[in-house]
Amino acid sequence: MSKDSKVALVTGGNRGIGYELVKQLALNDFKVILTSRDPDMGHEAAQKLKESNLDVSFVELDIGNQESIRQGAIAVSDRYGRLDVLINNAGVYLDENDKLLNMEPSVLEKTMATNFFGAYHVIRSFIPLMEQQGYGRIINVSSEYGAMSEMSSPGVGAYKLSKLTLNGLTQLVAAEMNGDIKINAVDPGWVSTDMGGPSAPRTPKQAARSILWLATIGPEGPNGEFFRDGKRIDW
Ligand SMILES: NC(=O)c1ccc[n+]([C@@H]2O[C@H](COP(=O)([O-])OP(=O)(O)OC[C@H]3O[C@@H](n4cnc5c(N)ncnc54)[C@H](OP(=O)(O)O)[C@@H]3O)[C@@H](O)[C@H]2O)c1
Repeated sequence: MSKDSKVALVTGGNRGIGYELVKQLALNDFKVILTSRDPDMGHEAAQKLKESNLDVSFVELDIGNQESIRQGAIAVSDRYGRLDVLINNAGVYLDENDKLLNMEPSVLEKTMATNFFGAYHVIRSFIPLMEQQGYGRIINVSSEYGAMSEMSSPGVGAYKLSKLTLNGLTQLVAAEMNGDIKINAVDPGWVSTDMGGPSAPRTPKQAARSILWLATIGPEGPNGEFFRDGKRIDW
C-alpha cells in the first residue's frame, strides 16, 4: 500500500452499496474509513475487509447525530490529518406508498434528518479537512427519485423530497467551493440491497463501480452535476 494513498470516507459503510464502495475504494489503493452508526456492525464489516488485506479502518458515525459527526471528524483529523474523498451514502427509505399529506409527519422528518440534514452536517464537518489541502471529492449518493420530474407523480414523497434537496445541496455547495474541491450527485440505479430488495436488477458491485470514478476525477472533472453510469442526467 502506497504511503501517499488518498484517504476516503464512506457513510453507512457497514452494508449495501456503502460496504461495496469501501471495498472498491480500498481495491483502488485508497486508505478507507468505513463508518457506521452501529459500532459492532461497523467493526465487523471493516474486519472482514482487513482480512482480505485491504486498508480499511472503522470510525463510528451516526449521521443523524451532530455530536457523533463532530467526534467522527476529530477522529479522522487525529488519525489521518487529511480527507480526500467523502461519500455521503447512508440513507433511509421509509415511505413507499403513502401520500405525503397522509403519512405521519415524523416519517418525512426522519427521512430529511438522514438523507438531507445528515449529508449537510457531514459535509460541513469534514470539508475543513479538504479545504486545508485545497483538494477534495465529495459524492452524494442520490436517486432518480430526487429528479424534479419525479415531483409530479404521487407517492414516495418523503424520500423524493429528501433526494431533491440533496441534489440542491450538491449544486449549492459546488457553487460555493474554492480550490480543487468537487461535489457531484449520483443515481446508483435500482440495486439489490436491503433497501432495494431482492428483485433489483443491479448488484452493489455494479452500483459502486458506477460511483467510484467520481472519486478520482481530475481538476477538469465535473462539479455540481448529477450522474448515472457516468452520464449526466437532469436534476
Ligand atoms: N438500493 C437502491 O435501489 C437505491 C436506489 C437509489 C438510491 N439509493 C441510495 O443509495 C444509498 C445506499 O443505499 P443501500 O441500498 O445500500 O441501502 P441499505 O442497504 O438500506 O443501507 C443503508 C445504509 O445507510 C445506513 N444509515 C441509515 N441511517 C444512518 C444514520 N443515521 N447514520 C449512519 N448510517 C445510517 C445504514 O446503517 P444501519 O445498518 O445502521 O441501518 C446502512 O449502512 C442510500 O443513500 C440510498 O438512498 C439506493
